Amino acid sequence: MQNKRMAAATTRKDRLSIMNQEATAPKKRIFSGVQPTGNLTIGNYLGAIKNWTTLQDDYECLYCVVNQHAITVRQDPAALRRATYETLAVYLAAGLDPEKNTMFIQSHVSAHAELAWVLNCYTMFGELSRMTQFKDKSAKHADNVNAGLFTYPVLMAADILLYQADLVPVGIDQKQHIELTRDVAERFNAIYSNTFTVPEPYMPKTGTKIMSLQDPTKKMSKSDENENATVRILDDKDTIIRKFKRAVTDSDTVVRYSEDKPGVSNLMAIYSCFTGKDFDAIEKEFEGKGYGDFKLAVGEACADSLAPVRSRFTELMADKAYLETVAKEGAARASYLARKTLSKVYRKVGFVEFK
Ligand code: TYM
Repeated sequence: MQNKRMAAATTRKDRLSIMNQEATAPKKRIFSGVQPTGNLTIGNYLGAIKNWTTLQDDYECLYCVVNQHAITVRQDPAALRRATYETLAVYLAAGLDPEKNTMFIQSHVSAHAELAWVLNCYTMFGELSRMTQFKDKSAKHADNVNAGLFTYPVLMAADILLYQADLVPVGIDQKQHIELTRDVAERFNAIYSNTFTVPEPYMPKTGTKIMSLQDPTKKMSKSDENENATVRILDDKDTIIRKFKRAVTDSDTVVRYSEDKPGVSNLMAIYSCFTGKDFDAIEKEFEGKGYGDFKLAVGEACADSLAPVRSRFTELMADKAYLETVAKEGAARASYLARKTLSKVYRKVGFVEFK
């Protein structure tokens, strides 16, 4: 943002004034995370990770692999371990620079669980009962409706509030959790005076809700059992093109963005995210052409954009020592920031400290 302001400044005086403001005003802080549960999809990429890469120069960013969230649903320990490093490798492969962003693994910073406990006591049962993701997940995992699944949004609030984050870049499915985070922060601030920054969700215009390729009325989800419903960030080109060719559309033939054409509209949103073209331009490009050409173009744009991510990912996964260094340095920096907030909270609620 500041770089854009600088580019727009026409006089030397304006530029100096922006430089002075930059020298004194700290950058706004961003926090976000992804659960290391299964292979990440283009929903995770377009709704979250790809956007993170555009923020790294203008904000102070922290990105977490939220493995503590993952165990609200039963996980195979070996698979969770692998997915944790894979998720970190995807962050890096997508273009997040560890010199500019703090990247870390949630369970390495114990303050998340500690603040979550405190915030549990400032979050109402009724509030948590209204969370749609809890309702969906408890229906899906009816044999394991554990307390963690219920209080999951409180851990998410702790993640965000620990770092005094101003903005949280997420897809639309997380918006309700951020609203709850805001409510909890405001409640705590009202009781104990200003303690937490009240965060805002940060969402791009397109890509906040990528839908399943097999049922475009349903969100694309990592855990979908139908492999044709999801495109994985790490799928190869042939697989990506095959999945787009099989995508459910409608009996019409016109490429047009419309609520009554959810399949085509979803493909247009995906194409738009990968190419930067707007919907008018896409409609013109495919005027007089059938869905076959359109689906192939979406598949190619997606596969070509993801190819460098995939090859960088393979290199990174072969260098475990490097991934560990990034995670270790990230955890040290995150712990330092998190402890500052946690000490403040402990003092305010009346926990005694040693002098
Ligand atoms: P998770 O792991 O389900 O998803 C990670 C990110 O991907 C976005 N996303 C999507 N965006 C567009 N279309 C889709 N189909 C799609 N599917 C997923 C999500 O909105 C999210 O931004 N609770 C969070 C993780 C979390 C978190 C946090 C996020 C824990 N603590 C603190 C932000 C801040 C989750 O389960 O995301």
